[in-house]
Amino acid sequence: MSDHENPAVTRILFSPNDMLARKFVKDLMRENHLTIREDAMGNIFGRLEGSTPAAGVVLTGSHCDAIPLAGMYDGTLGVIGAIEALAALQRAGYKPLRPIEVMMFTSEEPTRFGLSCSGSRAMAGALTPEVLESKLDSGGRHFLQVANEVGYGGASTQDMLDATRVAEGAVSHFVELHIEQGPLLQREGVDIGVVTAIAAPAALEVLFVGDGGHAGGQLMPDRNDAGLAGAELALAVERHVLATGSVDTVGTTGTFEIAPGAINSVPREARLAIDIRDIDGPRRDQVVAAVLKSAEEIAEKRNVRMSSRIINQDPPATCHADIVEAVAASAGALGLSTKRMVSRAYHDSLFMARVAPTGMIFIPCKNGWSHRPDEFSSATDIANGVSVLALTLARLSGGSWPKAEL
Ligand code: GLV
Ligand code: MN
Ligand code: MN
Repeated sequence: MSDHENPAVTRILFSPNDMLARKFVKDLMRENHLTIREDAMGNIFGRLEGSTPAAGVVLTGSHCDAIPLAGMYDGTLGVIGAIEALAALQRAGYKPLRPIEVMMFTSEEPTRFGLSCSGSRAMAGALTPEVLESKLDSGGRHFLQVANEVGYGGASTQDMLDATRVAEGAVSHFVELHIEQGPLLQREGVDIGVVTAIAAPAALEVLFVGDGGHAGGQLMPDRNDAGLAGAELALAVERHVLATGSVDTVGTTGTFEIAPGAINSVPREARLAIDIRDIDGPRRDQVVAAVLKSAEEIAEKRNVRMSSRIINQDPPATCHADIVEAVAASAGALGLSTKRMVSRAYHDSLFMARVAPTGMIFIPCKNGWSHRPDEFSSATDIANGVSVLALTLARLSGGSWPKAEL
């Protein structure tokens, strides 16, 4: 179920392998006695009924899509692990009060349409038809067109978004199990990360356009090399991020395309995609503003044309104290060590925090590696994470355990 060979995982939204992964997840939910429902955006839910459905649903889950050449734990842990947590609760005879649902979100990764967390944005009502229809895949098609082909979607983008939005009060809590995607838990020998805040990215695209020319014939003083303008901007991103003096501020020029892209041609165009993140929204936005100002100054100095666009600039989220405490208490009950920490990666939790009290559980991953094929978490760490998730869900659901026999 990957477009690349094991252990590399590439699973692009609504591709044949993504559809196979969806079938796998639904089969697993069914085998574990969960009732399946899918919404118009393709978010998949498996429900364990509770005695008091009117109290709202305790929701858990993550994503199974994967950026090119990623690993097999990012997201998938929080879906398959959550199904196993619900299976374990059923085996133990736990009876939920609030229903518990495990879900697989549609397109947490931005790979196909350039938009992250599409499913959770729509659930939170944080997505407009204009924005969704402005995002095209490499074949020039927008989300609804592709969704309709694979059996999701609706008559219009508006209908699809309306049908996906979560009703107020329907979700009582949300909790997501995920690999840390950073090195701290492993380095400090801690079993479980209790997440207190989730950093949010701002994503920008900057385009520099010069005149190009022959790499031999055009003399240096006559050039307006768009590639060099891009290179200066990538360095300016690093400089502005470091100038905050905060380890929580990070910036990445993750794509940098130059055209026409020939060794003997002065770059005519440079297109940069820049990701700037922080758990402090105003501080991150100051860096965004400084980067855009630098882009203008570099364009002026190098005599190239510049345009920019902000793809998204979402606010960071704070995890809810009730869930932070429920996760810490569950880990404590299992004798596991914990560390309170921020999530530097974004997650669907960022948007679910707008819908319901939200929290996250992290487990260590080898060397902090993620978004690469050698991403790895041990079976022990996975079992710890699943056990903490199961106990956390049980606490949040407020149900009952079987009476111990005397
Ligand atoms: C999620 O994949 C992220 O880039 O943080
Ligand atoms: Mn990811
Ligand atoms: Mn993820």
